[in-house]
Amino acid sequence: MTLPRPAKPQDGLIWITGASSGIGEALTRRLVRQGWRVAISARNAEKLNALAAEAPDQIIPAPVDITDASAVEAAVAGLEAEHGAIACAVLNAGIYITIDAANPKFEDYAKTFEVNLNGTAACLTALTPRMSARRSGQIAIVSSATAFGGMPTASAYGATKAALVNMAECLRIELHRHGVLIQCVTPGFVETPAQDDNEFPKPFMVSADTAAQRIAAGLDSKRFEITFPRRFTWMLKLIYALPRAWRIPLVRKQTGWDKPLDQ
Ligand SMILES: NC(=O)c1ccc[n+]([C@@H]2O[C@H](COP(=O)([O-])OP(=O)(O)OC[C@H]3O[C@@H](n4cnc5c(N)ncnc54)[C@H](OP(=O)(O)O)[C@@H]3O)[C@@H](O)[C@H]2O)c1
Repeated sequence: MTLPRPAKPQDGLIWITGASSGIGEALTRRLVRQGWRVAISARNAEKLNALAAEAPDQIIPAPVDITDASAVEAAVAGLEAEHGAIACAVLNAGIYITIDAANPKFEDYAKTFEVNLNGTAACLTALTPRMSARRSGQIAIVSSATAFGGMPTASAYGATKAALVNMAECLRIELHRHGVLIQCVTPGFVETPAQDDNEFPKPFMVSADTAAQRIAAGLDSKRFEITFPRRFTWMLKLIYALPRAWRIPLVRKQTGWDKPLDQ
């Protein structure tokens, strides 16, 4: 049996979704410096082309909307036919829409599920048969520390990110004997455009470059979870290890959701 192992630049391409901005953009630059040929996807082709122009020999723009499963399959098939096997994929594309639970919009739930869950599933559907057939490959799914437990306004985003941790764990169990390494990334707050509209306090927020450095280091390991900044994510894990009867009032208090509504 071929045991799963971290991919190396000589094994083929690394594919990053959500590479037109934030963490994906910073990770692209870092992996280029590490010698990878990087295929980058997002919807905004102009931004992908601008990033690719920084290292035309190493960066391959592959614009695609991950919610279109047949377009994702075509993009992956095209990349592999033209540039060789995808040895590693970082499924990072995602959106964050806050939900006001007292006044929600169904479209906000649906859109979040569509991109974060169905979009990731579309990428997996294109990747895992190819990697399993080759008996090698590595996939890191980008979740969030929000996955650890409930947070106010995160009833859509948090639900998708918790589901992604479960999805990654199922795949890790199942694809081990196929030689495919599955990992899950659970960042705390990272300074990116996704945080621009988030009015929430953002303790221990790290830069996109720091996030990229931590993800790149995690990709070099076999560990399941790549989490950072640890002083924040481990503190959250401790809080969420408490019984719900304690942790729910604690999170409510810590986030200010214990204050009475204005009359
Ligand atoms: N920032 C944080 O604090 C934080 C914390 C934990 C986890 N995360 C996760 O990290 C990942 C990256 O987040 P970020 O902060 O770097 O956000 P960002 O700057 O908003 O980047 C999101 C990326 O996803 C792409 N994207 C969105 N919808 C897409 C679609 N339908 N098809 C293809 N690409 C799509 C966007 O490109 P286009 O708009 O061009 O398509 C963009 O490149 C997300 O999964 C996010 O949930 C972020």
